Amino acid sequence: MKKLTHLFERNVKWANEIKDKDPEFFTQLSKQQAPEYLWIGCSDSRVPANQIVALPPGEVFVHRNIANVVVHTDLNCLSVIQFAVEVLKVKHIVVCGHYGCGGIKASMENEDHGLIDNWLRHIKDVSRFHADELEQLDEHARQDRLCELNVLEQATNVCNATVVQNAWKNGADLSVHAWIYSIDNGLLKDLDLSVSSTKQLEQLNS
Ligand code: CO
Repeated sequence: MKKLTHLFERNVKWANEIKDKDPEFFTQLSKQQAPEYLWIGCSDSRVPANQIVALPPGEVFVHRNIANVVVHTDLNCLSVIQFAVEVLKVKHIVVCGHYGCGGIKASMENEDHGLIDNWLRHIKDVSRFHADELEQLDEHARQDRLCELNVLEQATNVCNATVVQNAWKNGADLSVHAWIYSIDNGLLKDLDLSVSSTKQLEQLNS
């Protein structure tokens, strides 16, 4: 049986490099985690949370799924949000999508993809909410715009999650952000949705 020894070799090298720079790094980190950020992103292998924002282990709490979807009944995602907000007391929740997202692309097709079509339904809903705007665009622009609209929608879902609503009610210092990442140049773009209170969320919806 192959045991992926090359990955274990890389792991030892990586750990040693960090220890060379800071001998106490892992000892300190093993005592606690106190990240300021919760990252909700796509599972895509080209969009690794820590590396994109150049942060070391311990700085970002991460949840990833296909097409960075936040569903109100997804206990996995909601549990991550709850732990991040109530226990770790993160100050920022970033929903980060990316252009060229395979999940978004698949949601625009009328093909059978199997089980995942149930997940992609949520993105089809986003398409339907914004049908008027999307219909005016050519295919490429439509795909890019749906990637952006999906992030905005999912970030709004985070804002409406009971955990986040309760945190704001209790005066927590917590902001929700919507970002998008370009795989072709490695850069992030802020989609200018930044919500720090229920009042700001209401203004957004009005
Ligand atoms: Co993706």
